[in-house]
Amino acid sequence: MLILAMPSAPRETEGMSELLSRHRAVMPSWLPLYYESPLELVSGSGARVTDSEGRTYLDFFTGIVTNMLGYDVAEVREAVERQIARGVVHTSTLYLIRSQVELAEKIARLSGIPDAKVFFTNSGTEANETALLLATHARGSDEVLAMRGSYHGRSFGTVAVTGNKAWKNSSLSPLNVHYLHGTDHASPAFRGLSEREYVDVCVADLREVLDTAAPDVACLIAEPVQGVGGFAMPPDGLYAAYKEVLDEHGILFVSDEVQTAWGRTGTSFFGIGNHGVTPDAMTFAKGLGNGFAVGGVVARGDLMDGLTALGVATFGGNPVSMAAAGATLDYVLEHDLQGNALRQGATVVQGLRELRELPCVKDVRSKGLMFAVEMVDPETGAPSAPLAGRVLEAARERGLLVGKGGVHGNVLRMAPPLTLSAEEAAEGRDILLDAVHAVAADRA
Ligand SMILES: Cc1ncc(COP(=O)(O)O)c(C=O)c1O
Repeated sequence: MLILAMPSAPRETEGMSELLSRHRAVMPSWLPLYYESPLELVSGSGARVTDSEGRTYLDFFTGIVTNMLGYDVAEVREAVERQIARGVVHTSTLYLIRSQVELAEKIARLSGIPDAKVFFTNSGTEANETALLLATHARGSDEVLAMRGSYHGRSFGTVAVTGNKAWKNSSLSPLNVHYLHGTDHASPAFRGLSEREYVDVCVADLREVLDTAAPDVACLIAEPVQGVGGFAMPPDGLYAAYKEVLDEHGILFVSDEVQTAWGRTGTSFFGIGNHGVTPDAMTFAKGLGNGFAVGGVVARGDLMDGLTALGVATFGGNPVSMAAAGATLDYVLEHDLQGNALRQGATVVQGLRELRELPCVKDVRSKGLMFAVEMVDPETGAPSAPLAGRVLEAARERGLLVGKGGVHGNVLRMAPPLTLSAEEAAEGRDILLDAVHAVAADRA
């Protein structure tokens, strides 16, 4: 029998350009890669990662806001190794999983949602699908409110509630979606308004939508800070004002905490806490497993139990992801990483504020260890994705990995590990300052 030899990865001697060609040949064209010359990250420790050519970087993007404790954290590694050593990486939820029950108890308690129950999934997309199913089923309606500029995932239902054209392949939708204002204070229509006036206008618009366009809404789904949207954030208190109106109509509120949970915003354990709101459901993923695939929904018990058909996510809440997630959450709580996010976030953003003086920087904003620099064309003031791309490259050349986002792709966004030290915060801030100044002066 003829056995065809397939190339096996990784091939130590293979150059980046060859790997890139192989990637392009077999991976989808719509799966974006960062950098003109893309990176292969092969090892990591703490807040640093090393590429296949031996260069080390300080990581301020953590695998898209996911390696929440940084790399090679002994507590997480050992918890996973202990589980694997037992010989069981999967059993399914047809059987009791002790670590799953224990983690659900902790998340339910931390959520502040009354009589909360938890369902574990494998991703944020799947978590949001579940929340949308719970809400539309409970309310017997396919009408959903979402925010302009939002991102909630890549499945049919979550694309339907995504308000960011760059990530929306289809306008075909299983839901009837109405988009609300709240993260567009800087747009020409609203920029003259004070924060209070802007909130009032947003609330009036919500009332108008409910009175005239959307008779029977199931829920509002919203990110407290829009992740892919470039860390765009509504004024604190907007969602409390929205919730008052929603409550008048019995409309449910789902907070998508995929990027904002576990203390990242510094001032609250879940991002929505910054608005003084307890939602009916919260979705989570990314950081909880510190890189292991885990997501989920925590919801009011009656809402969770409202589904009438059976449900299962085969891999959701499997013993390995539960070991990783349990150890990660314990680490966050035992080391008060929410407090650290507040302290180190302040160090970084205080330094970055000077960038606002530059004609190519429109805004510098932050919440805890989520911060963003918004780039514009210095001549026209229009959003400039190319300038953001140049800063991304300039930061990499100087040894710092950052991310990009925004509805116009012109926002640099940073979400370092919550374990970031004061020295690392200062180092990353200084590299970023240098990179932006170099691009502003056309030196990069
Ligand atoms: C706020 C938010 N919700 C949902 C998702 C989807 O999560 P996943 O990529 O794990 O499906 C993301 C991913 O970036 C996100 O940022």
